[in-house]
Amino acid sequence: MGQALIEIRHLSKSFQTKEAEITALNDIDLTIEGGDIFGIIGMSGAGKSTLVRCMNMLERPTQGTVLFDGKDLSGLGEQELRKVRRSMGMIFQQFNLLLQRTALENVCFPLEIAGMRQSDAKKRARELLDLVGLSDRAESYPTQLSGGQKQRVAIARALATDPKALLCDEATSALDPTTTQSILSLLRDINRRLGLTIVIITHEMSVVEKICNRVAIIDESRIAETGLVADIFTKPRTAAARKFVYPGAEGQAVSISKRCMRIVFNGTSSCEPVLAEMILACKAPVNILFADTKNLDGKAFGQMVIQLPEEKDLAQKMFRFIRAKGLDAEEADDYVG
Ligand SMILES: Nc1ncnc2c1ncn2[C@@H]1O[C@H](COP(=O)(O)OP(=O)(O)O)[C@@H](O)[C@H]1O
Ligand SMILES: [Mg+2]
Repeated sequence: MGQALIEIRHLSKSFQTKEAEITALNDIDLTIEGGDIFGIIGMSGAGKSTLVRCMNMLERPTQGTVLFDGKDLSGLGEQELRKVRRSMGMIFQQFNLLLQRTALENVCFPLEIAGMRQSDAKKRARELLDLVGLSDRAESYPTQLSGGQKQRVAIARALATDPKALLCDEATSALDPTTTQSILSLLRDINRRLGLTIVIITHEMSVVEKICNRVAIIDESRIAETGLVADIFTKPRTAAARKFVYPGAEGQAVSISKRCMRIVFNGTSSCEPVLAEMILACKAPVNILFADTKNLDGKAFGQMVIQLPEEKDLAQKMFRFIRAKGLDAEEADDYVG
């Protein structure tokens, strides 16, 4: 823990097509520490898949280096790379299971390739299916499994060779919200139990919010911002980060609205955490127009007027949030500060 597992330095990747040279990655620097659940978020076409494929050299960088566990991968040949790739499992949006093999046989596959005896491979595969909660579906074929179950098989298969890192490229993007939550919980559980480092590629902030400790925002082939998830949520510094943290705000700090809320603090809580939590829960910024609060022993007394987002649903959500915290909130139209 606390030590760099994946270090990317000045990494660039371009593709030569018939028509043009496409820059997919431009001077990327990134450090992923052992034990991290590291999110890489960006719009479609930003370069996410190319970046994750460069991490295990499925894609050779045009420039720059990738260090994995202190080892420079750029200089390695195919055979050595195959060995390194066993310590970096990978899962995908489309699961990529072998359709003619059962769940158990899919998990056995990388072990057979690594030369393990079939009976040992089967034993290990059963343990892994148990770990992902699928011991009762060992003999099922992929077409007999739901999306979430298929991704569990893919996770078990990726873990078969005891990797140090698991690279997930849009692993939940084909799943419904409930299944997404259960797969993310499984990944977090594996991170804690096995100390496995996990890289999560996604275009959804909710995925990052749910399990990542660190995040990098990739925008138009470059890293726009990187840091602790909590910091980027509360203080996004770049327009690219704001796009994800406040979707719909379209780069504007606060939408113009006359709708205001007066919050009365009566000593049940302190005020900053309540506001910060509300901003996080509602994913929208607010403007403080007026505040006359005193903090006594960590408890706030007084009142505050904040300007609410224009969208009615969002404004109502904020009212509900504040009231659920046991605070008095009333609408204050046309507040003049
Ligand atoms: N093999 C390739 N040949 C040419 N262009 C590619 C290739 N792979 C990716 N690209 C281009 O690189 C850019 C980044 O793609 P990708 O890494 O797949 O983005 P993301 O995963 O963020 O959607 C895109 O413009 C894409 O068209
Ligand atoms: Mg992609």
